[in-house]
Amino acid sequence: MHIDRSLKLFSQAKNLIPGGVNSPVRAFKSVGGSPVFIERGAGSRMYDVDGNSYIDFVCSWGPLILGHAHPRIVKAIRMAAEKGTTFGASTEAEVILAQMIVDAVLSVEMVRLVNSGTEAVMSAIRLARGYTGRDKIIKFEGCYHGHSDGLLAKAGSGVATLGIPDSAGVPKNLTADTITLPYNDIAAIRETLSAYGNEIACVILEPIAGNMGVIPPKPGFLEELRRLTEEKGVLLIFDEVISGFRVAYGGAQELYGVTPDLTTLGKIIGGGLPMGAYGGRRDIMECVAPVGPVYQAGTLSGNPLAVAAGIEMLKILKESNVYADLDKKGEALAQGLASAAKESGIAVQSNRIGSMMTMFFTETEVTDYTTAKNSDISRYAKFFSGMLDRGFYFAPSQFEAAFVSTAHSDQDIADTIAAAEEILAAM
Ligand SMILES: Cc1ncc(COP(=O)(O)O)c(C=O)c1O
Repeated sequence: MHIDRSLKLFSQAKNLIPGGVNSPVRAFKSVGGSPVFIERGAGSRMYDVDGNSYIDFVCSWGPLILGHAHPRIVKAIRMAAEKGTTFGASTEAEVILAQMIVDAVLSVEMVRLVNSGTEAVMSAIRLARGYTGRDKIIKFEGCYHGHSDGLLAKAGSGVATLGIPDSAGVPKNLTADTITLPYNDIAAIRETLSAYGNEIACVILEPIAGNMGVIPPKPGFLEELRRLTEEKGVLLIFDEVISGFRVAYGGAQELYGVTPDLTTLGKIIGGGLPMGAYGGRRDIMECVAPVGPVYQAGTLSGNPLAVAAGIEMLKILKESNVYADLDKKGEALAQGLASAAKESGIAVQSNRIGSMMTMFFTETEVTDYTTAKNSDISRYAKFFSGMLDRGFYFAPSQFEAAFVSTAHSDQDIADTIAAAEEILAAM
């Protein structure tokens, strides 16, 4: 495979953009090699600037549940653009999208649109603090909630690790109120809430973890979290930036039947354009300015192009009820990859919920950040590079999800498994 133009662009980019990329994981640091530069996408495929084509399982890290350049979404964006790209004033389409989100997501009675998942989570945390008058928050090791200061708290071992910043430039006092606990560990949350319950504004988690690789909640984990938080007057926030409209139309809260107080959304709701949202109980949301004292604003919030793309995306997801089909394809891919590994004598753990999955290169079950870290990342790197060379684009890190879209055909999945069999056999 030739990637000469990509190599040239990457060397220019490194001179102009830190690491040559506008988001770190795109730099391929954990898998080695040089990133390919993408020219266009169509359906399940992406094409790079050297003319190579890839079946894409990154899907822009989640938004592209209908694949690349879906004709109806492209048309919706084009029609919106012709009417003006931004007004900084309200539009009818924002009301329509808000209604669609309220109808879809059980916990959401009111919603505010923002421009990214990071912004959604940052605002929801501020709101939780403003509503409860408490400062401390609880998050879980290995859950990513965007790059705002207070959420970049180091995942530590032990029962309750009081926040140590995970990034240079984050003042210690900004993560001092962030308590980090192991995912799926109900004893740890029980102890922490009983010790500090009255000081804690909220517990935030990915109800299905996607950012340490896919890790589903253990049976009863979400239910118990709901019960314990309610008991202590602590708000429960589901960060459904990935899982929202991905695992079910109503997200993980529909799938598991557990209703949080606040929900954050992103990715799919923007139809591939930049958008996030946070929403929840009316009495909480009415604390947001201009109704209440919690300030949050945005020049491009509710942007007409993003809203048009989001509306069309949700319309398609609703009218065609894609989730059974996505589950079937997800299962075929996960099982096919796992049995290819088994045939080659390579130990893997295959975690999957619907169309999001991770094959961890480890012998032991993966239920939290510590067990995820048992994975042999050099094996993943080999798998990744071999697949990329053959035209299959997986995430350039072991600790990410692979996403299947409605545009992936059965043939795409079969071809992927066949290529994986070769790569894994050679490892
Ligand atoms: C669960 C979760 N929350 C928040 C974010 C941050 O979203 P964004 O990258 O749009 O800022 C992400 C991004 O991957 C995410 O997966």
